[in-house]
Amino acid sequence: MANPSNRGQWSGRVGFILAAAGSAIGLGNIWRFPYSAGEGGGGLFVIIYLGFVLVIGVPVMLAELAIGRKTERNPVGAFKALVPSSWWPAVGGLGVLTGFGILAFYSVIAGWTLGYLGMATSGYLSQAVDADASGSIFSTFVANPMFAIALAGAFLLLTITVVRGGISGGIERIAKILMPVLFVLLIVLAVRSISLPNGLDGISYLFTPDWSELSLSVVMGALGQALFSLSLGMGAMITYGSYMPKHENLWKAGTYVALADTTIAILAGLIIFPALFFAGAEPGSGPGLVFVVLPTIFNQMPFGYIVAVAFFALLAIAALTSTISLLEVLVSYFVDERGWTRERASWLIGTGCFLLAVPSALAFGAVPALSGGEDGWIAWDFLTLNNNIWGNYSLSIGAFLICVFAGWKWGVPKLLDALEDGDGRIYPLPARGMFGVLIKVVCPLAVLIVLIFIVVTGSYF
Ligand code: PFF
Repeated sequence: MANPSNRGQWSGRVGFILAAAGSAIGLGNIWRFPYSAGEGGGGLFVIIYLGFVLVIGVPVMLAELAIGRKTERNPVGAFKALVPSSWWPAVGGLGVLTGFGILAFYSVIAGWTLGYLGMATSGYLSQAVDADASGSIFSTFVANPMFAIALAGAFLLLTITVVRGGISGGIERIAKILMPVLFVLLIVLAVRSISLPNGLDGISYLFTPDWSELSLSVVMGALGQALFSLSLGMGAMITYGSYMPKHENLWKAGTYVALADTTIAILAGLIIFPALFFAGAEPGSGPGLVFVVLPTIFNQMPFGYIVAVAFFALLAIAALTSTISLLEVLVSYFVDERGWTRERASWLIGTGCFLLAVPSALAFGAVPALSGGEDGWIAWDFLTLNNNIWGNYSLSIGAFLICVFAGWKWGVPKLLDALEDGDGRIYPLPARGMFGVLIKVVCPLAVLIVLIFIVVTGSYF
């Protein structure tokens, strides 16, 4: 077993915030959020999502960070350290399993971002002059299984290279370089997009709720999106919290990460929706939105070539800092609990994830025509399935159990103590009281109600 003192640490609060924001900000913000919002009626989805971030996301984020820093362990070891000889470590086990499940499909889509970056740079994407042309570029691209496998493999290789470098020397170092680049790219692209003709219509679509669209699947989608986007419910923040120095303030750090993630999701919306309205494209066109719809729009824009390259670079960077955190959860488990070296765990688990990613890559490749047409549904269904099982349900169940654990088993006083460990500052009573009510009652109840409704109404997927 690794000794907590030689597991590595963030250099300080800034390093942690950049790395954790890197985990949170990913394909979830730039690929998943816009298409989910587009399918969920725009403003309505956004409002429910923002509500979940505030009421469930922030408290669960703080609880995960507190559990991690207190125990200095991976998700399984953390529960073991707090309640030995109980079934609670299984909650961490579910998190590790979910990490494998998410990484297996996430790395395939992350691989696509590399492919699209290549196609944008070489000028090939300029052939995506309309929806049909863009659709056929996309379907030809993903229908090439060897290509999809190789790109997912290349992406995992990049991920392994960073994770094997350790906490401050690998993960933090890359986050400190990539996160500012990401932020600048986002701002430039948002300004470009909003200033397009009809750009403001996209903004009003994003912020005006149409309550007639309200449905259970919109609510579940928004809950899953809030958790997925903040990297919550599977112990990623337990893991990242476990590398946080004792003297750092967790309240502030956790809140900044949630704020950064939410701001970037909204910024991504401000890039994508104005562009859609500029081109008169359909916001509800599903997971193909950024890969099929955006290239056609880039081709209609002044400076479209540069915008396309910048956008897919942005997507790849965002995906990388997230795959790093997914792999880190798995690596920390094998290092802490199985006594593997970081080097060995990174290579072996990374390779395992690659093997798990192959079926996802093949599932897309096995379907010849993805852009519309009858044959397209199998592949998207596979994606929807993985997305739903791991990215919605598993994370929701995990978040529910983490709230019950933190609020009832571990208890609010210890949780507050662990949060305040660092600077010894005592937070004002109302804030402490509100946090207690949220983590004990509001969060678990809200997640449970959504899950029960899903089961009772049979609307699983
Ligand atoms: N938060 C990441 C995103 O928005 O793309 C995805 C993710 C990373 C989910 C790490 C869960 C996780 F543990």
